[in-house]
Amino acid sequence: MALNREIRVFRDLGELSRRAAERFLQAAQESVAARQFFSAALSGGSTPRSLFQLLAEHEFSWRIPWAATHLFQVDERTVPPDHPESNYKMIREALLEHTPLPAGHFHRMKAEPPNLGEAAAEYAREIAASLRPPPAGWPRFDLVLLGMGPDGHTASLFPGTAALDERSAWVTPNHVPQLNTWRLTLTYPVLNAAREVIFFVAGEDKAGTLRRVLHPESPADSFPCQGVIPSDGPLRWYLDQAAAKLLPEGVP
Ligand code: 6PG
Repeated sequence: MALNREIRVFRDLGELSRRAAERFLQAAQESVAARQFFSAALSGGSTPRSLFQLLAEHEFSWRIPWAATHLFQVDERTVPPDHPESNYKMIREALLEHTPLPAGHFHRMKAEPPNLGEAAAEYAREIAASLRPPPAGWPRFDLVLLGMGPDGHTASLFPGTAALDERSAWVTPNHVPQLNTWRLTLTYPVLNAAREVIFFVAGEDKAGTLRRVLHPESPADSFPCQGVIPSDGPLRWYLDQAAAKLLPEGVP
């Protein structure tokens, strides 16, 4: 099956964030028009902060159907929700505190130790209650927003880690030895069930990996983010020029 892949390159993080905000808004409006509901799973890290801040600004916020929107997390670090490394903290400060998203419409991954297994199961139940997938079916987010680390990880699916092989759980703890930590993450089957996936990548430090991810030339060019192949929906790469600087000219 041909991969439904789109690559768009923007001048800088500011333009990248604006175009991504426009696509988020459009996806929300399309989903609510069609299904009276919009679900999005958001990554953490640092790149999406400016996108979230933009979505909270009046220019976008008043047009987003917040009352029919449910936001989820793609992954979370095993730290308290007020910890500097918490993805929830970043999303709360950049977005949630500045929007009329109704209470209960943001679904936080409670990744505080010690029982990550129960936290994963609880989050899967929360996804099921909100997205209501068909029996034995996968939950289908309307939009999944992903980043890419310099090592080609996405979500908390890091190279060489067990979660890369998870094919039944929707959410799983994942030990990341290279960071000496545990994470909680959505798994490939859920990411690939999404109606739309946008990778949001900026910065020169990603350029070398991005070229190898998008244009692999050897078996060594194998990275976790390549495992994101939506089964029925577009895969969009939204890049700034710095991250895209090593991509071959004109090759999508
Ligand atoms: C996380 C994110 C992770 C992120 C990449 C890129 O928990 O760190 O979910 O998958 O998207 O690490 O992070 P930056 O955007 O900060 O480069």
